[in-house]
Amino acid sequence: MNKVSVVGTGYVGLVTGTCLAEIGNDVIGVDIDENKINNLRNSISPIFEPGIEELLKRNINQGRLRFTTDIKYAVENSSIIFIAVGTPPLPTGDADLSYVKSVSELVGKYMNGYKIVVNKSTVPIGMGDIVTKIIMENQSESFDFEVVSNPEFLKEGSAINDFFFPDRIIIGTRTEGAAQTMINLYRPLKSPIIVTDVRSAEMIKYASNAFLATKISFINEIAALCEKVGADIELVSHGMGMDKRINPMFLKAGAGFGGSCFPKDISALIKIGEQNNINLGIVKSAQEANFKQRKMVFSKIKNLCNPLENKTIGILGVSFKPNTDDIREAPSIDITRWFLSEGCKVRIYDPVANDEFRKIFNNSIEYAKNPVELARDVDLLLLLTEWNEFKELNFTELKSVVRSPYFFDARNTYDPNHVQSKGFIYDSIGRGSGIPHSTIIDNY
Ligand code: UDX
Ligand code: UDX
Repeated sequence: MNKVSVVGTGYVGLVTGTCLAEIGNDVIGVDIDENKINNLRNSISPIFEPGIEELLKRNINQGRLRFTTDIKYAVENSSIIFIAVGTPPLPTGDADLSYVKSVSELVGKYMNGYKIVVNKSTVPIGMGDIVTKIIMENQSESFDFEVVSNPEFLKEGSAINDFFFPDRIIIGTRTEGAAQTMINLYRPLKSPIIVTDVRSAEMIKYASNAFLATKISFINEIAALCEKVGADIELVSHGMGMDKRINPMFLKAGAGFGGSCFPKDISALIKIGEQNNINLGIVKSAQEANFKQRKMVFSKIKNLCNPLENKTIGILGVSFKPNTDDIREAPSIDITRWFLSEGCKVRIYDPVANDEFRKIFNNSIEYAKNPVELARDVDLLLLLTEWNEFKELNFTELKSVVRSPYFFDARNTYDPNHVQSKGFIYDSIGRGSGIPHSTIIDNY
């Protein structure tokens, strides 16, 4: 059993701390947000993450997990300190490291013995050295310590499963001792552990996210070409993904990627390239292609509903992906703004993210409680986030309430023929309208 603190109880820190408690460690969750800490003490999660509240309850009740705003208490009472505070993008595209730096100062200030300080937040290459320097400069006494890189690979909406069943755990350290401590910490997971130097570990994180984002932008570009040449991107993607070297994951055409990681991590990586005179042209193209993708969704709808002025658009799903309330960098934000600027009325329905969306759009748009209320008198329905709840829509009922039967499926959730048979004019990504969606026979 290790005595662990996790500073930052957001999407990453909360899952990390709660799951470390679940595998038997004594964990203190720390945050500057008093409201979050008070809720967490009552097992109320500040984020929507399937399964988190049950884990919170169990580990708080069994005394392995507690929460405080008192970082001094946390540092003094733990031997492993995770830094999992936000590293949001600055307007320049660089990562905002001010939170990591201010936490590092406090860790140095309150250090009362040997500690392992773990960078869980996604930080630029070389940040381990900077955190080390900050801690040394702020120590009241010169205690020995080590800064380790342990990047997270948690996908929102499946973060708990991703924690317990990782493809690999990356540990970036300078010393054998720190490596061994981290190996012992993660031993219960029985997952492959790769020990590297700190900078390689930091690079693995950025390069992994940049590659995944590039894969998505690649398939979205191919989808645009499919539409022109009459191919079906769903069949193309399936046929490609059967090649184990390509694999089917992150090969789904849609409205493009959002979230608090891909957009900011590729911006930060591009900046790191520029600062080192390396032009990351492929990553830049992936970033440009991603912005074009959401613009393409908007312009296709603009052509379908021309003129857009005074039309009502109903958006099904605004979170950046299913099973999360996170709307950071979601395509829905740009697309809603573009509709409003064309004089459209916009109504949204998301199973959990309505309130998050309201924080941005207030009463400039409408908020529905279900798909039928959303569809009432709309000129077009736009499916932007492929929640399971949207996979079996009652098109007969929707058809009876819409003003005009247009359905734009920005995540290719449906077979075009099915939706068209219900009386809708259907469009999607990379399939043209009505290309025969032939059956895929995998085993015969
Ligand atoms: C963040 C980064 O976005 C991600 O790239 C990184 O890999 C891990 O940390 P996330 O958990 O989504 O991921 O951040 P966020 O949801 O913003 O949570 C950060 C938490 O840190 C917030 O609860 C905030 O109150 C807290 N915080 C921030 C502190 O406790 N102290 C600070 O000084 C700053
Ligand atoms: C990502 C990385 O997957 C994870 O390893 C890292 O730790 C954090 O960033 P996350 O952003 O939570 O996780 O979600 P993810 O499932 O990766 O989806 C990211 C975005 O890509 C979403 O907007 C999703 O809609 C989009 N996406 C994903 C596609 O458009 N097509 C795909 O095939 C897969």
